[in-house]
Amino acid sequence: MQVLVTGGAGYIGSQVIKQLNQQGYETIAYDNLSYGYRESVRWGEFIEGDLADTDKLERVFHEHNICVVMHFAAFISAGESVIDPIKYYQNNVINTLNLIHTMLRCNVNKLIFSSTAAVYGEPKTIPIDENHPLCPINPYGVGKYLVEKTLPVFDKTHGLKCISFRYFNAAGADADGELGEMHDPETHLIPLIFDAVSGKTKDVSIFGDDYNTPDGTCIRDYIHISDLAQAHILGLTRLLNHAESDIFNLGNGAGYSVKEVIDAIKKVTGAEFSVEVAARRAGDTSKLISSSDKAKEILGWKPQYPELEKIVETVWNWKKKAKQIS
Ligand code: UFG
Repeated sequence: MQVLVTGGAGYIGSQVIKQLNQQGYETIAYDNLSYGYRESVRWGEFIEGDLADTDKLERVFHEHNICVVMHFAAFISAGESVIDPIKYYQNNVINTLNLIHTMLRCNVNKLIFSSTAAVYGEPKTIPIDENHPLCPINPYGVGKYLVEKTLPVFDKTHGLKCISFRYFNAAGADADGELGEMHDPETHLIPLIFDAVSGKTKDVSIFGDDYNTPDGTCIRDYIHISDLAQAHILGLTRLLNHAESDIFNLGNGAGYSVKEVIDAIKKVTGAEFSVEVAARRAGDTSKLISSSDKAKEILGWKPQYPELEKIVETVWNWKKKAKQIS
């Protein structure tokens, strides 16, 4: 059973590859290394390639026995997408259609798609379940929404079966301390706070403290990377056995404000660093908190890291093990 993992050298893809291999699947990572790290792909095969290169992609399908694709290769910064929307539509929409077109030409009709909580936009009700209206407020969310909308069409015309996961905020490092979150440039809150812990940067900026939330800073629902990966494997099993398309939220159902995340990291690490309030970042929603009851009920998903502090501890352990911090 071979699984093609696009974006397999990235933060989420590499963790999913690790857990797939541990659970007996063969993986082929396909990644252009624009953001991923070759050294993160420590299990299975690695092919350097771009989704725009459909000839290469088609050869990969012909030369392997791939029966399902997990598609992680995408740009992920909602804030950047506001400044450079074409970059996001080009990669996250057009390249996804390239992938689907190539899969269908090669008679592969099973897909696990990385969607996002950003498809919901500013929530009308909390917690957000899968039936919440979709009203994305940034091009990143719009791109993922557009792809989601094409999937039932390909199901009808070509029998494409797809499980889409709408991620809330992926965070943490794997428990063995082998893989963790690194982006270049870094834009994500938790890694940026750890940059201040290590002294790499001198302070942390809070992007806005005038939101309609109890402490005025944005609230997010953080989900541990291993829990996220495990949900994908459960989704894969369901797709292989049951073969029906579906959509699941993945989050912990608990919201933490930016200030609470900073406090949790100070508590776990014992570090002190300065914090300044800066302007709001364009494209940010005030609050995203999931209901992931559907994934728990239908997939039997049981998150192992429901608490933020435990998630933060895994990052701290990974940083210490990798000697990125002393
Ligand atoms: N933030 C700061 N200071 C920083 C960095 C971030 O205050 O230096 C704030 C942001 O404004 C936001 C929160 O911290 O309110 C979280 O920001 P991140 O950049 O870490 O993550 P996002 O919520 O913007 O986006 C992430 C993923 C998306 C995904 C989304 C789903 O990057 O791909 O979670 O909730 F869609």
